[in-house]
Amino acid sequence: MNDKAAVLADAGDNTRLAHIGNDPAEFYGFVNPPVVHASTVLFPNAETMEKRAQKYSYGTRGTPTTDALCDAINELEGSAGTILLPSGLAAVTVPFLAFLSAGDHALVVDSVYSPTRHFCDTMLRRLGVTVEYYDPAAGADIARLMKPNTKLVHTEAPGSNTFEMQDIRAIADAAHKGGAIVTMDNTWATPLYFKPLDHGVDISIHAATKYPAGHSDVLFGTASANAAHWPQLWEGNFALGICGSPDDSYQILRGLRTMGVRLERHQETALRLAEWLEGMDGVTRVLHPALPSFPGHALWKRDFKGSSGIFSIVLDAGSPDRFRAKAHAFLDALRIFGLGYSWGGYESLAVHVNLNDRTVCTAPKEGPVLRLQIGLEDIADIRADIERGLAAAAAV
Ligand SMILES: Cc1ncc(COP(=O)(O)O)c(C=O)c1O
Repeated sequence: MNDKAAVLADAGDNTRLAHIGNDPAEFYGFVNPPVVHASTVLFPNAETMEKRAQKYSYGTRGTPTTDALCDAINELEGSAGTILLPSGLAAVTVPFLAFLSAGDHALVVDSVYSPTRHFCDTMLRRLGVTVEYYDPAAGADIARLMKPNTKLVHTEAPGSNTFEMQDIRAIADAAHKGGAIVTMDNTWATPLYFKPLDHGVDISIHAATKYPAGHSDVLFGTASANAAHWPQLWEGNFALGICGSPDDSYQILRGLRTMGVRLERHQETALRLAEWLEGMDGVTRVLHPALPSFPGHALWKRDFKGSSGIFSIVLDAGSPDRFRAKAHAFLDALRIFGLGYSWGGYESLAVHVNLNDRTVCTAPKEGPVLRLQIGLEDIADIRADIERGLAAAAAV
């Protein structure tokens, strides 16, 4: 380890984010790495070519740009290796394909990102893998669901849209005891607020589309493995031939530089709004793990270093026939929030959540769930917009 690496190893998150990844000395001192567009790489002679005895051999196997990003992600995750994918969804599906075979059984948390579930219920099923959805509150009891052929346990905490927490360490220990690997979609916390590999997870998955990209203009995913699982993850991805583009890799590395300060702002505004919303008429529940009232709060407090900028509210709708009308009235009254999917960008977004695919943690009975992605706008303006939404919903 050189002097700088030793200093960075003990440095704070924002210092590390400013310096990890590429080494400027390798590129004439330019502080950012070059964007290398490459398929072909030339070899100096036949023997070098035959043995691929040089650092780069073909575009799909990495370039200085993708390596800079992988190095930065490995620093953040504490991983042995990282694969880069063209979307967050691919960062989930590729590890599943790399580790599951026909006849295997997989346990997937019921509060999983819905397109992950779609992949499991369609392609994985067609390939002969049985998928069972489990309660996010399972903890060590997941041992009861393990079968001799259970090969993978997938976690996501907090859960998509409803934010259920999971006892990742207890689940990982039980899964390992039963011979399964553990994957985690850690997009909400980012490795700044939760490091999955330190809690027993084997593969940490990130939709880098969200906070690392930060500007609603790049789709990207990363999957980072511990040393024991890196060779199989790498081989699976190599076999599939999926890679992150150099331009997108550059944008994600660029986004990482400011991710820490952006997250602090997302965290603060979202938490203040969540606290305020708890007392508002027309809101029955606020689903945010950092609120002491939230059922998974103790786990969040024990394991996580922070909270990010997305949470949900449950409106008080009275009877189910008014859920949709109330949700639409709220959304249509918004002027600052955009109505759109995704999150982690600079702008606030709202969506009426569909939980129809859940089998264990089903939709709240009191009213519609509205997911709020809190952007970087001024809090007074966001609050005023939510007030517009609540007033419109109250009038229904
Ligand atoms: C928790 C979670 N994981 C994965 C993804 C997928 O990311 P992408 O949109 O890049 O495919 C999303 C997207 O919303 C998500 O919310």
